[in-house]
Amino acid sequence: MAKILAVGIATLDIINTVDSYPSEDTEVRALCQRQVRGGNATNTLVVLSQLGHQCHWAGVLIDEPDSAIIQQELTQFNIDSSACRIITDGKMPTSYISVSQETGSRSIVHYRDCPEFSFADFEKIDLTQFDWIHFEGRNIEQTALMLQYINKHHRSIPCSLEVEKPRAGIETLFSLPSILMFSQDYAVAHHHKTAQELLSSLAKEIVASCTWGKQGAWAINKKQHLFHSKTYDPDNVVDTLGAGDTFNAAFIDGLLNKLELSQALIQACELAGRKCGQQGLMNLVSKIE
Ligand code: FRU
Repeated sequence: MAKILAVGIATLDIINTVDSYPSEDTEVRALCQRQVRGGNATNTLVVLSQLGHQCHWAGVLIDEPDSAIIQQELTQFNIDSSACRIITDGKMPTSYISVSQETGSRSIVHYRDCPEFSFADFEKIDLTQFDWIHFEGRNIEQTALMLQYINKHHRSIPCSLEVEKPRAGIETLFSLPSILMFSQDYAVAHHHKTAQELLSSLAKEIVASCTWGKQGAWAINKKQHLFHSKTYDPDNVVDTLGAGDTFNAAFIDGLLNKLELSQALIQACELAGRKCGQQGLMNLVSKIE
């Protein structure tokens, strides 16, 4: 068991399951609706918690009615939110999500009126207690300060950075964490045709992974050796929401457990595949034989 801190967001996810994704300017009935906690950092923590780790979240929590669902789920997974900044103005980031039953794909409209977690908030945390620190690739300038602070004062704590969306200046962070976790979206936005192409374009000594949908995922080690894992498709793809966050959690767990990079990659693809076969993130790990 390790003690893990994740810096990033929690959201309210309002998820409509639809038969198939609607075309523009049409009306469809949702088959069902559920409201749950979401957000990449806290999704990753919910999975890490099921993998047996002690999890802490650092982000912004707004004291408004919609935060109740979020706080209740964090409590359920024993996720400590004492490092969060709690404010009274604004609205918890909210995602309006359509999951297509036909494909399992998810389309998201995201709304936020919430400040980002800052370096001033981060500096107050006693980092000596943590075995791993994970960051969402957002809030670039402040995240750079946090990563630089760790490199200066807590060099021995491994850090991961999720690079999911192309964001102005995000590349300035690449040399700072111990490992980068890229998505296909980021790679494609930067005109890479394959995960290998993106990973090989990185500076020497950078350790990184990149997921690539149905083709699986790749990783590169410090010696610039590339590894590949296939996907582990469930019989039926039900819901892909949070599959990337699950991949990141299982990859971090593998590395914390000192698996080889190639083995951690396989474990991450396996758990992400399992996730796609079920709705949500609950009881994901208890299903592993
Ligand atoms: C899934 C997710 C959702 C959230 C959205 C935020 O990866 O974290 O839970 O609403 O992405 O971008």
